[in-house]
Amino acid sequence: MDFKEKTVIVTGASRGIGKAIALKMGELGANVVINYSRDEKGAKAVLDELTKMGSKGIIVKSNVTSTDEVDDMIDKTIDTFGHIHVLVNNAGITRDSLLLRMKEEDWDSVLETNLKGVFNCTKAVTRHMMKARQGVIINISSVIGITGNAGQSNYAAAKAGIIGFSKSMAKELAPRGIRVNVVAPGFIKTDMTDVLDDKIKQGILSNIPLKRYGTPDDIAQVVAFLASDYSSYITGQVINVDGGMII
Ligand code: NAI
Repeated sequence: MDFKEKTVIVTGASRGIGKAIALKMGELGANVVINYSRDEKGAKAVLDELTKMGSKGIIVKSNVTSTDEVDDMIDKTIDTFGHIHVLVNNAGITRDSLLLRMKEEDWDSVLETNLKGVFNCTKAVTRHMMKARQGVIINISSVIGITGNAGQSNYAAAKAGIIGFSKSMAKELAPRGIRVNVVAPGFIKTDMTDVLDDKIKQGILSNIPLKRYGTPDDIAQVVAFLASDYSSYITGQVINVDGGMII
């Protein structure tokens, strides 16, 4: 896989899965736009790692819920690299609670970030991709968007929404040479999942046939495949990367 002269935007790339994707794409030769919303230090550290491996990148602060900030990120990308080949919509949050205790703001913020953020970034890049008649969009959903989960109705709704959105986009954009796919991770060891208590983690592990938690790299490798020409005949698909968790 070779991404030389290709530009990849990764949202929420200052840590976790987004960071692993940014580094993997850089390792494969891409110019990487490292998007972050708050953690400038983390984003700079990712850029440093990319630079050390001889890849080009920029960090761009923009909250994916803001259309203005997203448009600004796309403008900066075009100004710096001239084109956008791949968008990875990775930014996401959780605000877990049972429905009766869920505050309206917990519902709204999860839908705004995880689903509207995907809409905002996709809409902003497709203008450029359609003109170029090529592009790849990869949206990070979750197995929870397929199975649902008690205490995560907001997250499950957003992640299921990403799947419906992506399939629609795949159909809408295929005639313009743009592929759209979804990666649905299972349980991946990151800051997001570190907050869960050990009993819950053990319960999850016992339901994973491959008997280990996933790593951010497990996701990054599949994203790289979907971003590459090795998957040039794949669009509108959901690839579960979960160690067999929801077979
Ligand atoms: P994380 O919490 O470590 O990273 C999420 C990143 O998104 C952070 O860098 C955060 O700053 C950024 N972000 C949040 N709100 C943002 C906004 N409004 N604008 C821009 N950036 C924003 O989480 P992790 O685990 O790396 O998750 C990455 C993606 O993978 C998320 O979409 C998550 O839902 C999904 N996922 C993670 C799983 C896991 O087990 N860790 C399982 C399934 C899906």
